[in-house]
Amino acid sequence: MKRPVLIALLLVSPALHAETPRQLLDTFSAEAARAQPGFAPSAQRGAALYRSAFKHSRAMPACTACHTDNPAAPGRHAVTGKAIGALAPHANAERFTDPAKVAKWFHRNCTEVVGRECSAAEKADFIQFMLERS
Ligand code: HEC
Repeated sequence: MKRPVLIALLLVSPALHAETPRQLLDTFSAEAARAQPGFAPSAQRGAALYRSAFKHSRAMPACTACHTDNPAAPGRHAVTGKAIGALAPHANAERFTDPAKVAKWFHRNCTEVVGRECSAAEKADFIQFMLERS
């Protein structure tokens, strides 16, 4: 295969676009720093977001409603009852490695639970919290 074709395939193939949780954290932190110079991600703020009870949805009041109080534990969907794997990367190696999946679920869960998109700063804080072992 000619090299430009191979490079084009690598660029468009989502399966090959894997990252580490740390790289995703750095991407969101850099984006947050553009709006908030000196931004540094905080596991404490991430934990607060994870555990906050929002008033937007009665069925899905908090991230913990489906992901449980412990991000390293498997969860269960509060509405459908479907099993959800643990969110913390040390308990589930697939987590925070697929940028498209991360974007999709931050979008869906933030709009459903918080009632709006999460900011880059909130996403960075959330991943920082997920990377902590408790
Ligand atoms: C109504 C249930 C529900 C609630 C509440 C919920 N989630 Fe989720 N979340 C899911 C499901 C379902 C998945 C995808 C299934 C899977 O990957 O196991 C998921 C996956 C994710 C992922 C993808 C991580 C990855 O790399 O695979 C992120 C990030 C996430 N949720 C963040 C949040 C945040 C932030 C909140 C709170 C604002 C939240 N979730 C609240 C159900 C929920």
